[in-house]
Amino acid sequence: MSRQVTITIDGQQVTAAEGDKLLWVALDHGIYIPHLCGIREKEHPDASCRLCFVEVEGLPNPVTSCTLPVKEGMVVRTRSERVDRLVRTAFELLLSNHRLSCAKCGKNGRCELQKIAQERGLKLKLTRMRSLLVEKPVDDSPEKFYYDPNRCVLCGRCVWADREKAKIGAIGFVRRGMDRRVAAFWEQPLADSPCIECLACVEACPVGALVAKEMKE
Ligand code: FES
Repeated sequence: MSRQVTITIDGQQVTAAEGDKLLWVALDHGIYIPHLCGIREKEHPDASCRLCFVEVEGLPNPVTSCTLPVKEGMVVRTRSERVDRLVRTAFELLLSNHRLSCAKCGKNGRCELQKIAQERGLKLKLTRMRSLLVEKPVDDSPEKFYYDPNRCVLCGRCVWADREKAKIGAIGFVRRGMDRRVAAFWEQPLADSPCIECLACVEACPVGALVAKEMKE
């Protein structure tokens, strides 16, 4: 069993197993840190969404909390001018390649982007950047769900759930840059892929990209 350590987050003392990642320690203690790509079970996080920055005493720059193992005496601040600036920029970058019409989204009210905006006082619209969204076709071929790449934040949680939880391996990332998206091999419709519609990917999706048809109705 790992040694228990005591750390301080926003002035609150909490105990955790040494080496646990700070993001999950904070969330377990009711301290919110924005996050999209973090997967608790993943030993080496991708840290691609760049939303989970915190300040740690003794470190010169903000660090991503999903990659940071806790150790005894660590003192953390989840908010600072630098952290807020980084989160605001990462958030707006995500929005610049995202369809922004919450009212028409199947996850309206249950979306992590909405939660982050609410928690951090951010707007769900572009204020400094212009939209770079190039409309991509929605895959409506499965019986139980659909995939809208225009609402995808490329967090990778669906790909991980499909491979590691469902053990199917029907989907992965394809293409590069602004055209990057999640798709079945050869970008075939999901209905023609090995997908068995177990909905593990839908459950993992934090936004309105993978939505159960039942939920939408
Ligand atoms: Fe840490 Fe995405 S949750 S970078």
